[in-house]
Amino acid sequence: MKTELVKPMGDKNSIYDVVIIGSGIAGLYTALTLDSKYNIMVVTKNEVKECNSNYAQGGVAAALEEEDFNNHIKDTLTAGSGYNEKSVVDVIIKEAKENIMNLIDYGVNFDRNEDGSLKKTKEGGHSRSRIVHYKDSTGEEIIRALIEESKKRKNIDIFEKTFCVDLIKEDSKITGVILQKEMKRFDVKASKIIIAAGGIGKLFSNSTNSIIATGDGVSMAIRVKAEVMDMEFIQFHPTGLNIDEERNFLISEALRGEGAVLRNQKGELFMGKYHPLKDLAPRDIVSQSITYEMELQKNDGVFLDITHKDSEYVKERFPQIYNHCLEFGIDITKEYIPVIPIHHYLMGGIKVDINGKTTINNLYACGEVSRTGIHGANRLASNSLLEAIVTGNRISKDINKNLAKIDCKSEINYYDLKLMKEYNYSNEINEIRNIMSSNVFIIRYETKLKEALEKIQKITDELEENNTIAYYEVRNMLVTAKKIIEDAINRKESLGSHKIFNK
Ligand code: SIN
Repeated sequence: MKTELVKPMGDKNSIYDVVIIGSGIAGLYTALTLDSKYNIMVVTKNEVKECNSNYAQGGVAAALEEEDFNNHIKDTLTAGSGYNEKSVVDVIIKEAKENIMNLIDYGVNFDRNEDGSLKKTKEGGHSRSRIVHYKDSTGEEIIRALIEESKKRKNIDIFEKTFCVDLIKEDSKITGVILQKEMKRFDVKASKIIIAAGGIGKLFSNSTNSIIATGDGVSMAIRVKAEVMDMEFIQFHPTGLNIDEERNFLISEALRGEGAVLRNQKGELFMGKYHPLKDLAPRDIVSQSITYEMELQKNDGVFLDITHKDSEYVKERFPQIYNHCLEFGIDITKEYIPVIPIHHYLMGGIKVDINGKTTINNLYACGEVSRTGIHGANRLASNSLLEAIVTGNRISKDINKNLAKIDCKSEINYYDLKLMKEYNYSNEINEIRNIMSSNVFIIRYETKLKEALEKIQKITDELEENNTIAYYEVRNMLVTAKKIIEDAINRKESLGSHKIFNK
C-alpha cells in the first residue's frame, strides 16, 4: 500500500479506478467491498482515523431477525416525523445483517453475551433492543478493524493529510479530483469518485464531531451543481458534557438506553411532561424538551443520572465516558453528569439514490455527507452507521457491476503552488460558529435566520481569495452555512429537528 503522494507522473502504480474522499466508516467500508481488481485511492485531510465515525459511541442499529424488520422501520419513520423515504428505509433496514456480518469478517469485535450471541442495547426512539455495540466506543472499534483490513489490501492506497480542493467536471460528468498536500497540487483523473467526507459539526461552537467536519463534501458537491437537500435538518444531541473546558464530548444515549434519566437543576425528572416515551423519546424531542426546561428553570443545562445502576456494571459498559468524566472530577457512578444539547449530526446532504448515486454522472456519496432519505426530519439513534455500511456496499455492487477495468484512463498531474498569502482564519471561523450557534440552533426564528444569512454573506464577500487548505476549509464552511440557512428559511413549518417560529 502506498501512503505518500509523491511526484507520480509516469508511475503506472499511480493509476486509480476509484477515488474515495474521506476515511470514516463510509469511505473505508466502501473501499473494502469494491472488487479487488480496482485500484482505489482513499484521501483524507487529516490522519486516517480522524473522522466522525471514530467518535460514534452508541453502535449500529440492526434488525438482525426478520421479525424485527417492521418494528425497526416503524421506529425509523416515527423518529423521522414520517418525512423519510419509505422505500429507502425498507432496503437499508433489511440489508443490515449482511453488512454486520461483513464487519465481523473484517475483524470488528462487537460485545457478546456468554452464549456468544451479539449483545444489543436500546437508545431513544427504539421500541426494542437492537443496537449492536462495542462498549461505548463502537465507531473507534469499527474504524480500527477497517484500517487494519485496508492495510492488508494491495489495491487500496490511503493518503493522509491530503485535502480535496474540488471535483473535476467535464462534459457534465465528474472525471477526477483536485488534491492538495501542503503547497503541492495533484489532479487525479479516475472513473468513479465517491464523496464520504462526513459532516458539518465545526460550523457550530459545540459539537460532538471531529475537527475535520467543515462541510467540505457538501460544498464541493454544490460547486459542481449536484443536488443537495434537506440541510435544515440538523440533529442536536441532548447530552453533550456541560463543563466549561469540555463542551464537545458526547455522553452516549446508550446510558439512557440502559436506564439513565434526565433531571433538571432542582433534581426533578422532567421528560414525562414532554413525551410519553420520557427519556427515551426521539432525539429531536429530547433536545427541544431540555431547551424548554432550561428556559422554564432559567438556567443553563440539566443532569443525566445513572447513579442507581450498579457501579461495576457502569464502569465496564461505559469505560470511555466513566474515565473522561473522572478526569473532570465527576464520578458518574455516584454523581449526576452535567449535560446540554450540542450539535451532533446532519440528516440532509448530497442527494443520492439507494445505490449512492448523486445527480451527476460518475459521482457517488456515502455516509453523513449524503442524503439517502432514510433519516427523514430526524435520525433514529444509531441508524447512521447502518446507513453508511448498507449504502457503501450498494455503491460497491453498482461499481463492481458496471465499471470494466479497461474503462480506467486515470492519470495524475502534479505541480507546485506558490503561497498567495500567509493568513490565519480564526476570526472568520469564530464568527461563523457564533452565528450558527446563536441563530441556527435548536429553536429557530425566521428573523434570526435572515440575519444569519446576511452575516454569512458579508464574511463571504470579504474573504480574500487564497490557495491554502485553511482558506479552502473556511470557504467550504461558508458555502455550507449559507445552504443550511437558506433551506431553513425555505421550510416555513416545524418538522422533526427543524423547529421554527415565523417571527
Ligand atoms: C450516541 O451514542 O448517543 C450517539 C449514537 C448516534 O448518534 O447514533
